[in-house]
Amino acid sequence: MSMTLEQAREKLKAHGQEHVLRYYEELEEDQKRMLLDQIEGADLFRIEACRHKEELTKRGVITPLAALQVPEIEKNRENYRALGLEAIRQGKVGAVLLAGGMGTRLGSSDPKGMYNIGLTRELYIFQCLFNNLMEVVREAGVFVPFFIMTSDTNHEATVKFLTEHQFFGYDPDCIYFFQQEMAVATDYQGRIYMEKKWKMASSPNGNGGWFASLKGSGLLDKISAMGIEWLNAFAVDNVLQRIADPCFIGATISRDCAVGAKVVRKNAPDEKVGVMCLEDGRPSIVEYYELTQELMDAKDENGDPAYNFGVILNYLFKVKELEKVKDVLPLHVVEKKIPCLNEEGKPVNPQVPNGYKYENLILDMVHMLPSCLPYEVVREKEFAPVKNKTGIDSVESARALLVQNGVEL
Ligand code: UTP
Repeated sequence: MSMTLEQAREKLKAHGQEHVLRYYEELEEDQKRMLLDQIEGADLFRIEACRHKEELTKRGVITPLAALQVPEIEKNRENYRALGLEAIRQGKVGAVLLAGGMGTRLGSSDPKGMYNIGLTRELYIFQCLFNNLMEVVREAGVFVPFFIMTSDTNHEATVKFLTEHQFFGYDPDCIYFFQQEMAVATDYQGRIYMEKKWKMASSPNGNGGWFASLKGSGLLDKISAMGIEWLNAFAVDNVLQRIADPCFIGATISRDCAVGAKVVRKNAPDEKVGVMCLEDGRPSIVEYYELTQELMDAKDENGDPAYNFGVILNYLFKVKELEKVKDVLPLHVVEKKIPCLNEEGKPVNPQVPNGYKYENLILDMVHMLPSCLPYEVVREKEFAPVKNKTGIDSVESARALLVQNGVEL
């Protein structure tokens, strides 16, 4: 039994959001139910965060965190690789594909992974990822358990697409889907937008939602039962993404770190990537817009820039360490364009940002762990993000990088 109208009214009233029921009386029965269910599931405390936005972004003392760089990795490559392959063969490593995002910048309503980046043949983003992982599967001789996070906005389409394409040759018994939670969106005053008369505007709650959702879905218990000790979480939109990379796994294990983070050397001091650092002595990531001139100019003992390694959304988490974390992930209140109903109840599709979304980010998980190994990879070999249609981090730039790496388009 879900919530009654009276209960919904009370819950909304406690947060000053009674307008959500404005159209209730004119709705069909199933629409009424849908709205009540959504109200029941919504975390309304979350949106109070927009009233103390400044406090959310307070930072501790930032100091450098040295990365394990390519020359050092090359020296130990065989050791690391052997250690990583052993962990994979023992079933200790799982992969987590973060594919719950909306991919709004790419401008397609399909899941991002369904984007066909091929020119003379079909080559979907999902396919690139499976192809990359298959290289490790062949090397190790075992399939890596593969967890795929979707969201309400793309779950059905993703499952249908991947099933129809038979997971591009991956063992279907090693694939597990789970869905992340949604979070409501508001105007600048924290008033919930309505997307439809029976639906509050909402979107996936950010890529940091993955671990809580994995737990909520019951899959974390399964992961423990399977003996998986490491989870490699990565973004859907990097077509050169190396997944369950044995060398990266081996290095993180041998350094006994709670998390490993793949990083690339920045291509300019002001490049728009989050960089690895320590914050109050714990590993952390400082966003590019928080990087002061002083930090940009800081040098390490070799005279190189001290904050020079940007994260590429590929992390290897030790499951036991994640389970220990008691802190709640901080919220990011982000300005976005939010399709909504106007005062007359007509749908509008704003061309400029009109309010806030409330997201948790995976990079904040790093700060909750005691140790992190920033692990340098060669950008041209492992980082081809597809964020936009053209220009920087686009379909075009990713295609060029695929070709450079010998992939036929
Ligand atoms: P982005 O931050 O680029 O967001 O995601 P996005 O939604 O894909 O794209 P835009 O900003 O709307 O254009 C980085 C990674 O995090 C995943 C995405 O699927 C991508 O792999 N993600 C993002 C989630 O899994 N859930 C989210 O709620 C947000």
